[in-house]
Amino acid sequence: MVSFTQLFTTGLLATSALAIPVAKPITVEVEKRNSTTNTSKRGAAYNDIALVSPLASTGTISWAYTWASSMFGSLPSNVDYVPMLWGARDFGGWVTAVETALSSGSNYILGFNEPDMTSQADMSASEAAGYYQTYITPYSGRAKLISPAVTSSTTSGMGLSWFQEFMSDCSSCGISGLAVHWYGDTADEFQSFVSQAVSTAASYGLSEVWVTEFALSQDAGGVIDAATTSSFLQTVLPWLDAQTNVTRYSYFYCADNYLLTDTTLNQAGQTYTS
Ligand SMILES: *[C@@H]1O[C@H](CO)[C@@H](O)[C@H](O)[C@H]1NC(C)=O
Ligand SMILES: *[C@@H]1O[C@H](CO)[C@@H](O)[C@H](O)[C@H]1NC(C)=O
Ligand SMILES: *[C@@H]1O[C@H](CO)[C@@H](O)[C@H](O)[C@H]1NC(C)=O
Repeated sequence: MVSFTQLFTTGLLATSALAIPVAKPITVEVEKRNSTTNTSKRGAAYNDIALVSPLASTGTISWAYTWASSMFGSLPSNVDYVPMLWGARDFGGWVTAVETALSSGSNYILGFNEPDMTSQADMSASEAAGYYQTYITPYSGRAKLISPAVTSSTTSGMGLSWFQEFMSDCSSCGISGLAVHWYGDTADEFQSFVSQAVSTAASYGLSEVWVTEFALSQDAGGVIDAATTSSFLQTVLPWLDAQTNVTRYSYFYCADNYLLTDTTLNQAGQTYTS
């Protein structure tokens, strides 16, 4: 596809040729792949990129991420790739990888993965704010920036309370949206947590909430009972689609024993893609 620089240059030439006096603001629109025509919020969280094609086969998946800054292969052409800076372990290759992703059409960047968990990105809110400002904020003119993804823990200093501390330290980080994860037992509990995330985001003027991992707790290590999972998804997917401020979500996850069995959609996967 045409690079951003090429389009930018072409745009400038066209503008001067037509002698339009006021320069139009440069937006990330020109970099978009198909997201302007494809408004599905549903995504694929994957480790094995080969499994995204079966998940995208019915046309309901518009985006994908892999907890990393590179996609590791090729996604179906109508699935947008979203790079993520997982945590401190990935600072080294970040600039090269994110530049590649942005010039290939990515228009969002995801922040750290569960910084509120010691087993994951493990950062205090103020540490994370410093790193965010250093590594992610510089891209704010070229992509929309999503917050670190917090857990649904209600322990003080974790979950949405971690996010609130983070926002007080990162008010000039250029953040456009809040990312959250949820594991729990019922659709009601899920909807209540997501609604709380939406109102927390709105209190910072943010109208985008991304639910980048969610599943019943019993399915965190693989789908236990496909009928139960399918029924959970049948309840929450239309609800998520109806929440204006929930702009993207991805079930945990696009993998064997989760939405697929081997490389084929199972009952949960069929519900997720219907
Ligand atoms: C958009 O999607 C179509 C298929 O629906 C594909 O042929 C085309 O290459 C995509 N455009 C870009 C820029 O990826
Ligand atoms: C959305 O993307 C899917 C592929 O993930 C594609 O098959 C479908 O046709 C697209 N929908 C629209 C409205 O472009
Ligand atoms: C959605 O976001 C906008 C902008 O922050 C806010 O005004 C609105 O109240 C939010 N909606 C809900 C349901 O919180």
